[in-house]
Amino acid sequence: MSKQSLSQRVTAPFLRLRKQRGEKIVCLTAYTAPMAQLLDTHCDLLLVGDSLGMVVHGLPTTVGVTVEMMILHGQAVVRGSAHAFVAVDMPFGSYERSPEQAFDTASRILCETGAQAVKVEAASGVADSIAFLTGRGIPVIGHVGLRPQAVHLDGGFKARGRNEEERQRVLEEARATDAAGAIAMVVEGVTPELAAEITRSVSCPTIGIGASAVCDGQILVTEDMLGMFDWTPKFVRRYADLRTTVMDAVGGYAQDVRSGAFPAEAEEYRLKPGK
Ligand code: KIV
Repeated sequence: MSKQSLSQRVTAPFLRLRKQRGEKIVCLTAYTAPMAQLLDTHCDLLLVGDSLGMVVHGLPTTVGVTVEMMILHGQAVVRGSAHAFVAVDMPFGSYERSPEQAFDTASRILCETGAQAVKVEAASGVADSIAFLTGRGIPVIGHVGLRPQAVHLDGGFKARGRNEEERQRVLEEARATDAAGAIAMVVEGVTPELAAEITRSVSCPTIGIGASAVCDGQILVTEDMLGMFDWTPKFVRRYADLRTTVMDAVGGYAQDVRSGAFPAEAEEYRLKPGK
């Protein structure tokens, strides 16, 4: 397996090398410095996803997420990591109008966070902006298939490309994203057949979420795979049940506070001798 030292940041060319060598790319979302610290040595890429609007801020969709929110969380994740490649989502409304608008937002995000790349949801009109950014030295990750920022147009968070017309559209968007110079592409909520066709026909690595094991890498929302919520989408595998762990711990604390069992003597400060 190609290795990059744990004290060195993963680079965009290294991610591409992984695809060429057939080595899977490990990615997770991160929104805070302590979580980034825990994930850093295990992951090739940490994504500061705009899913933070729903996961951290309790928004119903990602549509209300602002550039300021992305920058604040991006700064925390860069501070909390030393190894993983850090990419930050461009939120809805911050890049779609023109390549110039995309450049202003992307350059601000990279300058103010220290992250290595931005990610955009790659509708057909966005390929020009991806080319504009990459032509000016900004690494861009595309996102095709289920595009959460288009939730109102699509009528919900539904898998994409399940009929011939949609399959063609998603494939074209993926090819246009690759041709525009994207360094990688998230492929979300598509069938294994479509994910395989995309992965075969683009030169950049594909990072799947709900898109089967055929992709060059995988990403999940960390809180989903840690079992923080009472519901998880079909494509998520839970590697822990932190919701139960947290509820049990907090229940125990509340009981101890109410009964006076916390704090105990060992948890109290004492006068220092001689003072
Ligand atoms: O916003 C996000 O976290 C994402 C990943 C789930 C791919 O786009």
